[in-house]
Amino acid sequence: MIRAILIFFVLLSNTIFSQNKLNLIPYPHNVNINEGNFTLPETFILNSELPKNETEYFKKRLSSDLKFKESNKSDANLVYSQLPKSGKSEQNDEFYSLEITPKQIQIKSYTKQGYFLALQTLIQLIQSNQKDKKIPAVKIEDQPKFAWRGMHLDVCRHFFTVEEVKQYIDYLAMYKLNTFHWHLTDDQGWRIEIKKYPKLTTVGAKRKESMIGAYVDNTFDGKPYGPYFYTQDQIKDVVKYATERHITVVPEIEMPGHALAALTAYSELACTKGPFEPATKWGVFDDVFCPKEETFKFLENVLDEVIELFPSKYIHIGGDECPKTRWKECAHCQALIKKNNLKDEHGLQSYFIQTIEKHVNSKGRKIIGWDEILEGGLAPNAAVMSWTGIKGGVEAAKSGHFAVMTPGSYCYFDHYQGDPQTEPLAFGGFTPLDKVYSYNPIPEELNAQQAKYILGVQANLWTEYILDFKTVQYQIFPRMMALSEVGWGTSDSKNYKEFEGRVINQFKLLDKMGVNYAKSIYNVTGKVISANNGISYELSTSQNPNGIRYTLDGTNPTANSQTYQNPIPVSKSMTIKSAYFENGELKSAVSSQEFITSKTTGKTITLEQQPSENYSFGGAFTLIDGIVGNVKQLGKTWLGFQGKDVVATIDLGQKTQFSEVYFNTLDNKGSWIHFAKSAQVFVSDDGKSFKMIKEIGKDEILAAKGKIKLNVGNQNSKYLKIKIENAGIIPAGNPGADSKAWLFVDEIGAL
Ligand code: ACM
Ligand code: ZN
Repeated sequence: MIRAILIFFVLLSNTIFSQNKLNLIPYPHNVNINEGNFTLPETFILNSELPKNETEYFKKRLSSDLKFKESNKSDANLVYSQLPKSGKSEQNDEFYSLEITPKQIQIKSYTKQGYFLALQTLIQLIQSNQKDKKIPAVKIEDQPKFAWRGMHLDVCRHFFTVEEVKQYIDYLAMYKLNTFHWHLTDDQGWRIEIKKYPKLTTVGAKRKESMIGAYVDNTFDGKPYGPYFYTQDQIKDVVKYATERHITVVPEIEMPGHALAALTAYSELACTKGPFEPATKWGVFDDVFCPKEETFKFLENVLDEVIELFPSKYIHIGGDECPKTRWKECAHCQALIKKNNLKDEHGLQSYFIQTIEKHVNSKGRKIIGWDEILEGGLAPNAAVMSWTGIKGGVEAAKSGHFAVMTPGSYCYFDHYQGDPQTEPLAFGGFTPLDKVYSYNPIPEELNAQQAKYILGVQANLWTEYILDFKTVQYQIFPRMMALSEVGWGTSDSKNYKEFEGRVINQFKLLDKMGVNYAKSIYNVTGKVISANNGISYELSTSQNPNGIRYTLDGTNPTANSQTYQNPIPVSKSMTIKSAYFENGELKSAVSSQEFITSKTTGKTITLEQQPSENYSFGGAFTLIDGIVGNVKQLGKTWLGFQGKDVVATIDLGQKTQFSEVYFNTLDNKGSWIHFAKSAQVFVSDDGKSFKMIKEIGKDEILAAKGKIKLNVGNQNSKYLKIKIENAGIIPAGNPGADSKAWLFVDEIGAL
């Protein structure tokens, strides 16, 4: 009884709390909501002493909501005072206070940047209260937790115009992000004019054609792409635009890898003669900058022009994914390793980065690079952008180097944000809104002193699969809102639902701006569960569960379709389609799941060796869940085993007749995925002594293109065991040569 009362109380106070929360993202640190409201007047009066540029921005943002007039009187609607620097203690340059009373709005800050951030808060308050024209009386005192709150944009795989880049910068400003990382050079295109080296853009800014569709399809569009690049005048214009919005633009010039476009223009900078061409495919390429005198001279000259254009403290020099294949075979590279007593090619990578660092430091700037710049020893003053995980950031911070956290599993916005079947083609991975929101940029292994080296957090948008700006919008919204709150330091994943409510409120503003945001948070998700020695399909939504409708006949659900109540039994092959409805209106995409059942579906399976962590979704159960693998869902419908065989034993529950055993395996050499080398099928009645009933080799697997169907004669057994052999070490001449190959398997069936 007492517990019941307590629960009631908690619920009640939660409700009051969430009703009282302002519609703001990122949520401010200190909010005191007071009695009364400020009523927006017909004409909003701005004090004439307000900082000019920022106030112009404010007027533009609200031009369709309000009329403006200036007044030099102290009773203007908006007044500003600059705080004395001496008053700063715990407060940083981005601090602001925003006090709204029924009479007036007052902003205080140390800097114009603080004033600008306060205006962003005020704009959100005004725009989310348009209906009744009243904004609540409130006192907000606020500042970000992290100094680097970034978004990256790859303009090499696909190019975006100056106007689009400016819109991107506008989105950052709206959500108080302050760093725009502009990925300007890569294998598929060089996108920045360099006066001293015109061929970088006449030759390196175009490619013969582009890959289209999923990587595994290996299909090309046959259409020349480019030349697309930014002139130096355009770059200056973008930097000015960003600066007016208090956003730092950090340019990235990739080295020593991801350099094919540059090498196409100046092949003398490579280890071999070429000729080269800008890549038409996605991935990592063996031809990289050779660390010769003339390469360093070239890169230093390029960086000198870059430094002139970009006032940022940091210059990003890439450093990721640099294969050592050419360096191993290059006489010059090997002599350089000897001469400088370097340990190996990783030492040479470190030598490369350190040489560049000296030059950049001599110009009064610092370098930042992807976490591979730790290989062979970190350059003395370098900062690390930790992307392969958090290790790079941890290692940097522990050794007194700054780090920006951008781990793939939380911060890569080219990943899927909903069920891939309902999403546009994306790179892979699964990083929904709540996952981004749950990220804590300070790794647990750091103490308070080391944690100070975590500069902040950033999300990256690689554009292999993003062909246009509408898709850019889709991939960043609403996840950028979660990132914004993580960087601001007010995210709280325990209160994710409350955050989601504020996100849904922001959708109205995005609608007004014509932004194509993802509605994935409304989507119905399905989960196969084991039930009655078979499977059922459980549907859920983060919204009201009574809003789920579904069909089993292949038609799209409508508001009148069956209401979901309990997990749906899957006793035969079928397709379940579901969607989320509110007040009769379809809110989500339609989710569709095809099931192909067999005698193994939902039975008990054990694996001798577990799949690799990143490709272990659902565990062994994934192999008998009735879902055949989809190449768009490597991380979900397939299990991945790096360097390991699949040895699976399925307990069919009782003696069972079957005559065919099937499974699929993948081949995608660019991603180090190779077909199995062989497969063997065994049966047993006691689960102890097994008899081999079938064996196939590599040629048969190749001939079947990995879609294996094995005729095993008439069997009647309780246990079925299958061994699928990993290709082993990747042979020379393939991407990832000498590393362990991946084996992917989706479903093991018996008919
Ligand atoms: C990266 O994603 N290659 C930095
Ligand atoms: Zn070389």
